[in-house]
Amino acid sequence: MKISNDLYLRASRGEKIERYPVWLMRQAGRILPEYRAVRASVSGFKELAETPELAAEVTVQPVDILGVDAAIIFSDILVVPDAMGLPYQMIEKKGPWFEHTIHSESDLKRLDIKIDVAERLSYVLEAISITKRELNGRVPLIGFAGAPWTILCYMVEGSGSKTFSETRKLLYTNPKLAHELLQRITDVTIIYLKAQLKHGADALQLFDSWAGILGHKQYQEFGMKYIQQIVNAIEGPFTVFSKGAYSALPALMDLACTTIGLDWNMNIEHARSLAGEKKTLQGNLDPCVLYGSESAIEKETLQLLHSFKSQRHIVNLGHGVYPDIKPENVKAFIKTVKNYEI
Ligand code: CP3
Repeated sequence: MKISNDLYLRASRGEKIERYPVWLMRQAGRILPEYRAVRASVSGFKELAETPELAAEVTVQPVDILGVDAAIIFSDILVVPDAMGLPYQMIEKKGPWFEHTIHSESDLKRLDIKIDVAERLSYVLEAISITKRELNGRVPLIGFAGAPWTILCYMVEGSGSKTFSETRKLLYTNPKLAHELLQRITDVTIIYLKAQLKHGADALQLFDSWAGILGHKQYQEFGMKYIQQIVNAIEGPFTVFSKGAYSALPALMDLACTTIGLDWNMNIEHARSLAGEKKTLQGNLDPCVLYGSESAIEKETLQLLHSFKSQRHIVNLGHGVYPDIKPENVKAFIKTVKNYEI
């Protein structure tokens, strides 16, 4: 189906655009009262994510209410370890929690092998099909997965952490086990992302939220190596968002993907000088800007837009939108981008 607002896709491919496209990481849910109403009708996050009709409904909400130029499927990066045989729970106000974690070769027995990925994650794929129908060609739909390194962090640690030192410890004490797991995650992720495209996702994004806690050499060995495999296996618009991976920026620019996501600490001019015109850059307003007044939001957003020296940009925050941001403030951000003439 032809997409009427395909700015996001054209910007991804480096084609001509009339204005910069804008969307927000973590736009589905969290900030919208309309999301909370749907969320309150079920037992919790997991049931919502596993009910395709409802997942599709909250995916479309930010398109209707905020006017973003792309939708992102409502799901979580943790559905992949869940499908591999390591179920997660989402604990209210705390975040994800895994009853079982992987620390040794014998823990690997907990994981199922030769899984039917499309069958285990059919609820996401069905949500994608329904969302595509409901979007009816208005804007593109982004599918996503976590990068193997970030998924490994949760499978080893079992919950969030400031340092993920258990996982970093494993890289030194048992690198063979780390590589074995990273390869298994990579293989499942490739099948999963291809299935998302087959079910109608127009573009994909890989979230490497914990890239920044690894040293340069370690990120090459335990992060980039697997991202590269994924990117090489996938066609079409593809964003790699490696949060905090400053020293990996030159290597990221060499990946066979269309777009590199930048967090708010990254310098756009520097990233552009590394990217030339061969990559689209996505980002990178500090999410905290959205706590300011509407005029402050406009000022900061304009400053960001003025700093672009190329058309190859997708406007976004430098990380996910925080849950207590007012929807009006998000709208002020989006309006500023939409009114800006290139
Ligand atoms: O972007 C979107 O709007 C689509 C949905 C989406 C969610 N999670 C829904 C969600 C996406 C793209 C994610 C990605 C994700 N999940 C990441 C990578 C991006 C990042 O923020 O760094 C990570 C690390 C996770 C793991 C995760 N999921 C955590 C740590 C938490 C708890 C804290 C939090 O962020 O709320 C979640 C829960 C989660 N995932 C919620 C939503 C809407 C909140 C759950 C709720 O409604 O109760």
